Amino acid sequence: MSQIPAITLNDGARIPQLGFGVYKIDPGRTADAVKTALQIGYRHIDTAAMYKNEHGVGQAIREAGIDRADVFVTSKLDNGYHKPDDARRAFDNTLAALGFDYVDLFLIHWPLPTRYDGDFVSTWQTLEEFKNDGRARSIGVSNFQVRHLERLARETDTIPAVNQVELHPYFTNNEVRNYGKEHSITTEAWSPIARGTVLDDPVVTRIARRTGRSPAQVVLRWHIQRGNVVFPKSVTPQRIRENLALFDFELSDAAVDAISALDEGEAGRVGPNPDTFDVVAD
Ligand SMILES: NC(=O)c1ccc[n+]([C@@H]2O[C@H](COP(=O)([O-])OP(=O)(O)OC[C@H]3O[C@@H](n4cnc5c(N)ncnc54)[C@H](OP(=O)(O)O)[C@@H]3O)[C@@H](O)[C@H]2O)c1
Repeated sequence: MSQIPAITLNDGARIPQLGFGVYKIDPGRTADAVKTALQIGYRHIDTAAMYKNEHGVGQAIREAGIDRADVFVTSKLDNGYHKPDDARRAFDNTLAALGFDYVDLFLIHWPLPTRYDGDFVSTWQTLEEFKNDGRARSIGVSNFQVRHLERLARETDTIPAVNQVELHPYFTNNEVRNYGKEHSITTEAWSPIARGTVLDDPVVTRIARRTGRSPAQVVLRWHIQRGNVVFPKSVTPQRIRENLALFDFELSDAAVDAISALDEGEAGRVGPNPDTFDVVAD
């Protein structure tokens, strides 16, 4: 929708700054949730092979009668498929599940530095193939720490278009976000409302009262003003609508700073640490 700003990625592609996330949406409920989001005006959907609901995302876009070209679709390589031949097969499966001949953005879901002999470089070079053959319009990474990004910069030819990382008021992930800013890597913030845990924070509720907005809108607006790409998840139509209504108000600099000051560093994470996360599903 025109009210949602777009951000230009380092490869020239444009991504809507606000999207809809589908992690933990039951595969059987995904098409309905995504259709609701599309009807309300979302034009950016964030899924992953790991979520097992890519099929529902593709189905919703087809059934909503929206041109494929008008929706920005991201998916991600699952952790068991980092070896180049496995990654090629997995990417074919992602496109088949979505029912599309391309994705707008494809990511390595986790770096898994303690697996595959620490090799995520050959995985990244395989994603470069998908970009070169046009089946991934843009490629990027997720949960990469600064040293992982530095290694890609040293050993490969393509700078990731995005790095999708945990980021919310309790975990502002400044080191990774600043590296992205300095190296033209767009930061996407996952769990933007910390899965709801930040919505009762007194600082957030005070700003919400003052602005006449909900706590979720205040936190999502904080992301937007800081330049992050976000895709809150909800299966609740009223919340899906609320999370899009962010573009007719602004937070003061003082309010943005007060929310940024809620950062708790590593203790603020709601998800795993990418340096040690090593889960590969069967
Ligand atoms: N790359 C990665 O490793 C990674 C990891 C995690 C997430 N992600 C992506 O990021 C997306 C968002 O993160 P997330 O799903 O973990 O967490 P989130 O969006 O921060 O929070 C989702 C939770 O907040 C609730 N909620 C949503 N809007 C609300 C509102 N306006 N008021 C009150 N509660 C609200 C939802 O409940 P209901 O659904 O019941 O309404 C759900 O329980 C995911 O869907 C996925 O696409 C990526």
